[in-house]
Amino acid sequence: MKIALGVTGCIAAYKAVEVMRGLQKAGVSVQVVLTRSAMEFVTPLTFESLSSMNVITGMFPQGQNRDIRHISVAQSIRLLAVVPATANILGKFAHGIADDFLSTLYLSTPAPVLIAPAMNVEMWRHPAVRANVAILKERGHSFVDPAPGQLACGMEGEGRLAEVDSIVTRILEALKVDDSLAGLKILVTAGPTIEDIDPVRFLSNRSSGKMGYAVAEAALRRGAEVHLVSGPTNLQPPKGVQLTRVRSAAQMKVAVLKMYPDMDVVVKAAAVADYRPVKAAEQKLKKKKEEVGLHLVPTDDILEVLGKQKKGQILIGFAAETERLLESARDKMKRKNLDFLVANDVSSGVFGSDTSTVHILRPSGEPEILKDQTKQTIAGRILDIIAESRRSKV
Ligand code: CTP
Repeated sequence: MKIALGVTGCIAAYKAVEVMRGLQKAGVSVQVVLTRSAMEFVTPLTFESLSSMNVITGMFPQGQNRDIRHISVAQSIRLLAVVPATANILGKFAHGIADDFLSTLYLSTPAPVLIAPAMNVEMWRHPAVRANVAILKERGHSFVDPAPGQLACGMEGEGRLAEVDSIVTRILEALKVDDSLAGLKILVTAGPTIEDIDPVRFLSNRSSGKMGYAVAEAALRRGAEVHLVSGPTNLQPPKGVQLTRVRSAAQMKVAVLKMYPDMDVVVKAAAVADYRPVKAAEQKLKKKKEEVGLHLVPTDDILEVLGKQKKGQILIGFAAETERLLESARDKMKRKNLDFLVANDVSSGVFGSDTSTVHILRPSGEPEILKDQTKQTIAGRILDIIAESRRSKV
């Protein structure tokens, strides 16, 4: 199994040698890629002496008639890890700048990406770097965040490269093949729905779609066949997912019911509109002096329909509550005939955020609480529960 280890120009670059050694001990074959500034801190010879592979230091090697190296490396690796990652490489990755081998490899590989940044504390806190990290996290890349402590520049604070052992562990974890959902067909719904009032106005909600997309991505990684029915979001669909885009609750219902008989699992993370205007006006509604009312009719509760038509599928619902969380959640679970329910307290505005606190309810027993966890961690736990439930059915 081969990975690419990108090393960028920072005082912690020498620690990448230990990371490479740790990975080699675990049987991972490591293709090292050094940027020009990394070579100011460590030499290719250091890595080459300790590994059986040539180190890549540039886009255009002299002399030999080689294949297009960034493409062949891109296709052959299981992971791209960057240790240490400077503010500069984060910026290049975030904005698609490909002006050296590492940044070009980043754009050309389908492999997952793990980044261990290291830099001065002020740089790490700078809004430009925060924004780039947010873009990369949104893209689904993993981070081993820098640790607090004494920095090479003499300052104190967050910015030191994380411990070598924890970086090696995270890389090995990322490489583990988890096929616990292989053979399962999973339907995930995500995002808000939009109900048109007229050609320029609509009713919607604050759902970002992040939770459903995280479930879809994690399920793909565990070997499932994943169908994602998504309302409008700004998110990039995970590679390999079978995507159906919808707009309204009615469109979501049609898409979901069509696929339902073939599915083994449904995770209904979408925030579906409960009401829609009776009929969208064909022309833009004109402003009037007097008060106006909006005549709304209930949409169909898709999950309730799925609960009624259930034939062995595992059905997982979500509940967004602002009060009496567990009581309302238990009621929803029963009313919609669900196997599990993920209840979310949305009173403090989790919509769009990367973390959340949820209670996972099962038909019996106490709810499991996941406090201030990333949506990726919550997605992972939901999938663990699906895998457990599948095993207990066999
Ligand atoms: N849901 C659905 N169809 C709807 C409304 C909701 O399938 N028309 C699903 C959601 O995808 C979610 C679950 O039902 O998995 C709960 O959604 P939520 O908005 O919390 O609850 P509601 O049932 O709409 O109840 P209320 O708004 O009264 O809390």
